[in-house]
Amino acid sequence: VIYLDNAATTPLHPKAREAMIPYLSETFANPSSVYSSARAVRKAVDEVRQVTATAINATAQEIYFTSGGTEAGNWAALGALEGCGNGGHIITSSVEHPCIYNLCKRLEKLGHAVTFLPVNAQGMVNPQDVENAIRP
Ligand SMILES: Cc1ncc(COP(=O)(O)O)c(C=O)c1O
Repeated sequence: VIYLDNAATTPLHPKAREAMIPYLSETFANPSSVYSSARAVRKAVDEVRQVTATAINATAQEIYFTSGGTEAGNWAALGALEGCGNGGHIITSSVEHPCIYNLCKRLEKLGHAVTFLPVNAQGMVNPQDVENAIRP
């Protein structure tokens, strides 16, 4: 079998699996707790945060771990909206992954300004449509 769907999900790298085994078995705890086994997990999470940051030339404070794409997409969209302060206006495409598309539909229902732009046959948004959609 040749797996060609790595954009949707990808198998765990054997090195990552090996590194995770202690945390999936004996070394488990909530890293936010205060007891010693929890602090050990917190130390491991902080180390991985630093390694990840270094790998992409970021700071550790910029690294957030999420459960997956849906949570990450929701954080990004809601965070951007909150950052606007004035209620915001979301401009998105009509072909986003459901984790963004459905969130934007819900936000629209709740009264937020959302513009869904069409895409062409190649799935691309026309930059002029984006420009036209921008509000003061
Ligand atoms: C762009 C995009 N966002 C979100 C997801 C959903 O990811 P998850 O199942 O990790 O929540 C996927 C999964 O294919 C995706 O491709």
